[in-house]
Amino acid sequence: MKEQLRQIEEKAKEAISAAADLKALEELRVRVLGKKSELSGILKQMGKLSAEERPKMGQLANKVRSDIETLLSEKTEALRNAAQNARMAAETVDVTMPGTKPPVGRLHPLQTVENEIKEIFLGMGFSVADGPEVEYDYYNFEALNLPPDHPARDTQDTFYITDQILLRTQTSSVQVHVMEHQKPPIRIISPGRVYRSDAVDATHSPLFHQIEGLVVDKGITMADLKGTLELLMRRLYGEDCKIRLRPHHFPFTEPSAEVDVMCFSCHGKGCRVCKGEGYIELLGAGMVHPKVLEGCGIDSSVYSGFAFGLGLERVAMRRYNISDMRLLFENDMRFLEQFR
Ligand code: PHE
Repeated sequence: MKEQLRQIEEKAKEAISAAADLKALEELRVRVLGKKSELSGILKQMGKLSAEERPKMGQLANKVRSDIETLLSEKTEALRNAAQNARMAAETVDVTMPGTKPPVGRLHPLQTVENEIKEIFLGMGFSVADGPEVEYDYYNFEALNLPPDHPARDTQDTFYITDQILLRTQTSSVQVHVMEHQKPPIRIISPGRVYRSDAVDATHSPLFHQIEGLVVDKGITMADLKGTLELLMRRLYGEDCKIRLRPHHFPFTEPSAEVDVMCFSCHGKGCRVCKGEGYIELLGAGMVHPKVLEGCGIDSSVYSGFAFGLGLERVAMRRYNISDMRLLFENDMRFLEQFR
């Protein structure tokens, strides 16, 4: 029996030191010390021993049992420590390693230019008005003094949805919405998308952006228009920037003008960029036609106003020296990442 106990202890020692994890160790504990274990079997046989031997064997068996228990708890401790050390090693952060940079987005050049222009006008006391892109013919044409058979409608190839509903071809439609609801003094700008059924090329797109401006008050003249636009262009392109007004025709302004800005490349001398002109066309403008004012319930004998419509793509292209409008719409990251 003594020999048996010795062997049990010996085997248990080996098995404990070989146990690889806490689960294996627990299984081992049940196998070596549990009710069905060899050791329990021996303890049950104690009764058969002589009264003299029984306490000695009992003592020995208990010692074996407590030795094995000690070994088991030491091993448990060791395995726990090892597991924790491994976890800590795995979670170690090397603070000196370079981090992974998350990609940071930036504003589209059109948005940057729009924001800048808004800031300039907000500084002059304008507010920003919004209008629908899907528009009634009335607001896009008729109220702007373009009756159904007016030839100028042809110059703005229109996407019609029904006879009466279309995609707006100009932000000038917002003028009418504003004047219907607000009495002078009026000072607004209205940026937004406009649509024309143009073929795509380096300077045309069926979708582009305009910023409309409208001022209506007592005593507004063409001088106010010119002063306002001159200030805008100086803020956008630098203090030496000059503008030029050429007579033109728009049905909703009288007189009307096309406004050119001095060529950034040759400063007015004439070069390839401006096709020898020295100036580049940037916007349409004029004094709001009395018919348009009257149609919106504003007395044209008391009030006058000016309006302008600025192509945002042109402003951005001139500003960033972009030669092809398509680049603004293709969303190629290699292009967009250049604008900070
Ligand atoms: N709406 C005109 C266009 O798209 C521009 C414009 C606006 C002209 C306001 C005069 C006044 O061509």
